Formats: sequence, structure tokens, C-alpha cells
Amino acid sequence: MVNAIETEQLSLHVGSFHLNNVGVDIPKGKITAIVGPNGSGKSTLLKIISRLVQQDEGDVRIENKSTKEYKPKEIAKTLAMMPQSKQALPNLTIHELISYGRAPYKKIFDPRSNMDDKEVIDWAMSITGTKKHENRMFYTLSGGEQQKVRIALALAQKSTILLLDEPTTYLDIAHQLDVMELLEEINQQHDITVVMVLHELQQAAAYCDYLIAMKNGQIVTTGSPKEVLTASFLKEIYHIEAKVIYEDDYPLIVPAKRSRSISKYKQAL
Ligand SMILES: Nc1ncnc2c1ncn2[C@@H]1O[C@H](COP(=O)(O)OP(=O)(O)OP(=O)(O)O)[C@@H](O)[C@H]1O
Ligand SMILES: [Mg+2]
Repeated sequence: MVNAIETEQLSLHVGSFHLNNVGVDIPKGKITAIVGPNGSGKSTLLKIISRLVQQDEGDVRIENKSTKEYKPKEIAKTLAMMPQSKQALPNLTIHELISYGRAPYKKIFDPRSNMDDKEVIDWAMSITGTKKHENRMFYTLSGGEQQKVRIALALAQKSTILLLDEPTTYLDIAHQLDVMELLEEINQQHDITVVMVLHELQQAAAYCDYLIAMKNGQIVTTGSPKEVLTASFLKEIYHIEAKVIYEDDYPLIVPAKRSRSISKYKQAL
């Protein structure tokens, strides 16, 4: 297996949280989901990989080269990151915003768009269905429309690796599937490695080749959805009792109904 990203013994202390010795390989050309409970360190891991946050110890290798050896523009052409949507974007039109994705390709004294930029901006808007909004201000879009613009912004970087932190949050079920299919298309037709944080385990199973599960700042398990999503995994990670049933090779998770007073998850908190 060739890896797009490798982390080696990553550690970070922030407040009372400890990302603890995280070493994980993310396969090239595949779709990988990082799953795990709230606060387990998923976003922190993505932020370290994309150099938004500096680790205390350890190293990240992207395409077989330490991130310390990359120049900022070079890394931006290799890896694009869509942060968790709680982060605000500047108040610009959709076209202006997506143009920002081209920044790594611009020379310092020439902020104009060239033909290549225009084509890529158009491609990013068309593939995400956001072209029809190109002259609207970002804040006037619905949550789901904004999410697609965020994806387009990352796509416009034309990187070989795309990291997305909860790309389907705030979307209704139809738009969630839209986004998952879009990411599948980007992966298969444009040969882009996709790595995303997902809470929806069912969708992770259906669309992802590889899962990485985190808990308390550590990697708990990695493997194919079939290997990872077992009843004992759900109990260990989420403290839930659930059946895992297979249909067409996809695991279906059926949680047992529980009374609030005996919720083991509440007890564990
Ligand atoms: N700057 C910070 N100061 C203090 N604590 C922080 C900081 N950044 C992150 N944390 C804490 O680190 C832990 C991990 O955060 P992180 O955002 O990585 O979790 P997550 O797995 O992405 O959770 P979620 O599913 O809720 O998005 C959380 O408990 C968070 O409060
Ligand atoms: Mg997060």
C-alpha cells in the first residue's frame, strides 16, 4: 500500500487535551474517514497534518516528504484542507471566495487570474453545483449551499490530497449523499486522495475504503469499514449496544434502544 500521508509519533498538549503518540498511515488514492467521539482529537489531527497547528513532537510525511521540508505554496498545491464549518469565511461573493483557492499558484506581484485560474475556478464551481450562486455573498447562502462552497474553495487548490473536516454536517440526508457522491467522483475520476472526518458511520462504511478510529487523543483501530465497524468497536468507542448487520457487504448499525437513566455513555462522561 502506498501512503499519501504518514504521521510518526505525533504528540500535542493543548489545555487538558493530549494527542498521544499518533502514528497512522493514510493510503494514497483512496477515501479515508477519521471517526470517533466528540473531543477525541480528529480535527486536531487534521490541523497538524495541514500545518494549521504545530505539534509538540513527531513528524508528518506527505507524499513521502516531511512537511518541514515543504515550502508553504508547495504544500498548498499538494494538500487542501476544508476546516470544520464553525470557522467563519470572509464576507465575499462565491466567485471571489473560490478564487482564493488559486492563491498558491499566483506570483507575488500578480494577483490577476490567468486562463488556468479561470478554468479551475469554473471547474470547482461546476462540479460542486455552486456556479449558479457565483455572484451572491457567502452569508446569504443556506448552510448546505455554504458547505458546497467550502468544498469548492478547497478543490480550487487543485491539490492531490483533500482533507475535509465534517463535510456533511448541517446537510439534509439528500445533500449529505450528494456530497459523499461528489467526493467519490473527485476521488475516482480526478485521482485525488480524500481524507475526511465523519460522524455518520453508515456513510463512512458505504463510501470510504479505510477507517481510522480515534478516542481520547489516540488511534484505537484502523482498517476497512468491515474490519472496524463491529459491535464490540461501537461498545468500546461510543459506549453503545448495537447490532451490526450486513447488507450487500455494507455494515448497517442498529442501536439498541436504551433508557436515559441507564445510558452508559452518560455514566462514562
Ligand atoms: N486551543 C485549544 N485550547 C484548549 N483545548 C483545546 C484547544 N483545541 C482543542 N482543544 C480540545 O482538544 C480536544 C480535541 O479537540 P478536537 O477539535 O480535535 O476534537 P474532535 O475530535 O474534532 O471533536 P468534534 O467531533 O466535536 O469536532 C477537545 O476536548 C478540545 O476542547
Ligand atoms: Mg472536530
